Amino acid sequence: MSLRRTATASLLRQLGRWQQENSRAPVYRQLADALRLLILDGRLPLDSRLPGEREFAAALDVSRTTVASALGVLRDEGYLTSRHGSGSVTQLPASRERIPTRTGGTPLLDLSTAALSAGPEIHHAYQQALIALPPHLASTGYDPQGIAPLRTAIAQRYQARGLPTTPEQIMVVNGAVSGFALVLRLLTGPGDRVVVDHPTYPLAIAAIQGASCRPVPVALPQTGWDTDGLAATIAQTSPRLAYLLPDFHNPTGQCMDAKTRAQVAHIAARTRTTLVVDETMVDLWYDAPPPPPLAAFDEDERVITLGSAGKSFWGGLRLGWIRASAKTIASLIQVRDTLDLGSPVLEQLAVASLITHSEDFLPARRAWLRKRRDDCAAMLAQLYPSWRTVTPPGGLSFWVELPGALATRFAASAENAGVHLGAGTRFGVEGAFERYLRLPFTHETELLRQALESVQPLWLQLEQNGNNAMRRVV
Ligand SMILES: Cc1ncc(COP(=O)(O)O)c(C=O)c1O
Repeated sequence: MSLRRTATASLLRQLGRWQQENSRAPVYRQLADALRLLILDGRLPLDSRLPGEREFAAALDVSRTTVASALGVLRDEGYLTSRHGSGSVTQLPASRERIPTRTGGTPLLDLSTAALSAGPEIHHAYQQALIALPPHLASTGYDPQGIAPLRTAIAQRYQARGLPTTPEQIMVVNGAVSGFALVLRLLTGPGDRVVVDHPTYPLAIAAIQGASCRPVPVALPQTGWDTDGLAATIAQTSPRLAYLLPDFHNPTGQCMDAKTRAQVAHIAARTRTTLVVDETMVDLWYDAPPPPPLAAFDEDERVITLGSAGKSFWGGLRLGWIRASAKTIASLIQVRDTLDLGSPVLEQLAVASLITHSEDFLPARRAWLRKRRDDCAAMLAQLYPSWRTVTPPGGLSFWVELPGALATRFAASAENAGVHLGAGTRFGVEGAFERYLRLPFTHETELLRQALESVQPLWLQLEQNGNNAMRRVV
């Protein structure tokens, strides 16, 4: 396997301000904690070759012994391996048990993933799917566009949301991310630029880079979208695509209003830019339903919409869909066989049943998530008064602004206390968002409270160190 060398400058950017003043943990431990977090988050890809000890120590302004000891810790834990002539190479420990846990062996609480387990409707939908399965068994089961009953149910759902759609405009895929990879495969070539909201969904950045394209970030303001910034970036960079999350944006939870949707569609038409709109979170609204789909404002068929069963129903279904012009769908079907041969029939039948009956269970799920969101907001205000948050109108998480660039340091020390936090840098290009955390409210309120309380002293210590440093500078 070919090894990529991690550029020292890029590694330093990803590490951010990893060293805590006045910490009782030795510097080599702090460095090991920060590097481990980058590996676990995927920000330091597996099979990456780290810079040589001497060069790394000079860049970090620490002794070579410190670097050697930190790498030694990670080697012992299974996060690094030494390859002859290649130095230290990142890997994951062979067994999850080797991933450090809280003292006493309590497992790590994962506050980095925003997802829910299955409700009773999922089991019921599978039962319905088994009943509906027999007629499909007479076919080969290979259908690259997806079975007709599901495509019809999806098209009707768009129709009900104000976007006329035929089943020919739908293609069923194995999740929204897989759909995005297929769109990239059809429409982009190496070196093409793809505009993204900044921050954005990390796997979208990974898919863009995986297609050898370059993500071009457009900063999101505190609320809303910067349409002037989007227009200017498109004019300056001539991207092949723009990937946007107008419906309860991940990670900020923001929802684009109807006027902005019309403006964005107009910018795309004027500049002949294809928009890929990821609607994965569209059903998770708590205050008011979102405006009609962005594609409803598009007169030119320039919008390709990605949908997912993952958040509305359950991630384990592993299904999503693409809505586009019938012509684009036909082209996507042609390139699909370089990726896979279709989606599982039973899951498609289950999702058709879930879509048809979604109003039987989604209102209760929204009410329950709204309560968790509000409890989480109250907890954050009480335990972390210096954090800034905007209560999201939808989605599954808070996008928390910290009072300093402390996300990596806090996440690294929380990891040792048994809490895995989602540092904001995962949601940015090139190490941006070191001042942010994404905090899901998907866990039970009591569990979340325990986790937030257990890492609060670590945060207070970090904040204290930061304030002392500021005082010395002043
Ligand atoms: C914006 C966004 N797109 C896509 C996905 C993943 O969707 P799927 O599981 O359908 O690939 C997620 C999951 O969190 C998401 O937040």
